[in-house]
Amino acid sequence: MNYSNYYEICKQQYEKEGKPPRDSEKEKEFYENPVREFDFMSSTDYREAVESLSHKVKSDFDTNTDTLDDKIMLKHTNIWKFSEEIRNLCNVCVPKLESSMYFCNLYVDKIYIYRTNSLKDRESSYIWHYDNNPLEVVKTIIYLTDVDNEENSPYEYLIDSNNRGVIHPPTRTGPSHWLPAPNNSRVNNIVEALNKTTKPISNKVLGKKGTSCTFNNNAIHRANPLKKGFRDVINIRVKPTLIRPAHFADPKWTTGFEISGVVNPDPTLAWTSLV
Ligand SMILES: [Fe+2]
Repeated sequence: MNYSNYYEICKQQYEKEGKPPRDSEKEKEFYENPVREFDFMSSTDYREAVESLSHKVKSDFDTNTDTLDDKIMLKHTNIWKFSEEIRNLCNVCVPKLESSMYFCNLYVDKIYIYRTNSLKDRESSYIWHYDNNPLEVVKTIIYLTDVDNEENSPYEYLIDSNNRGVIHPPTRTGPSHWLPAPNNSRVNNIVEALNKTTKPISNKVLGKKGTSCTFNNNAIHRANPLKKGFRDVINIRVKPTLIRPAHFADPKWTTGFEISGVVNPDPTLAWTSLV
């Protein structure tokens, strides 16, 4: 079964569980409006979790504790020391994505915590790209520092004439269609061609600590190299599941940088599998 079929049965199951009747217009938005900026800041639990996590993460990055520096990003290698903050953030964010974006049950399969770097030349995630997992995989990036201006390494995504994110179709959709992406899913050429015809072509997400952006992993996006200050983030990735786990994120089914970002080709394994 591919991811889109599995997503469909997850939506059927969600409706059976007594959730509001399905609405095809809203469901279409999942693919047509692939980047959202939800406001989670009205939640006290969210604000407190962001505040607490931001101090702990800053301290670890400043002292190189539980970190891996690949010169592209400074990566945190021990996310579960923040399990309380992770639980509180997921308890605010994931239900919102279930009820406003996916209309199905979700679980968290990946959490990244990292600090961006100042690079001379763009490489890796600093180049326009799509992640090339199936379309039913969505990430939420939450700033753990103020990103007030373009020098603070804002997350950036490509937009169309309606100010909506732009998806690049992935080459991975399920067990029967699972191919590497051309040019390693880097698409500077596509963006540069647009640059000559349309303006503006992208949105940079600016805001105070706690500002978030939820994006389909195949929405064309990039990080910007740091020019001033530092930028720490937590990135929470979700996938549909037929059966909701007791809690959204868990070391049994949620990984960090230690395991590849490519999801399992089989969506039905959901949170029964580490990858
Ligand atoms: Fe990415």
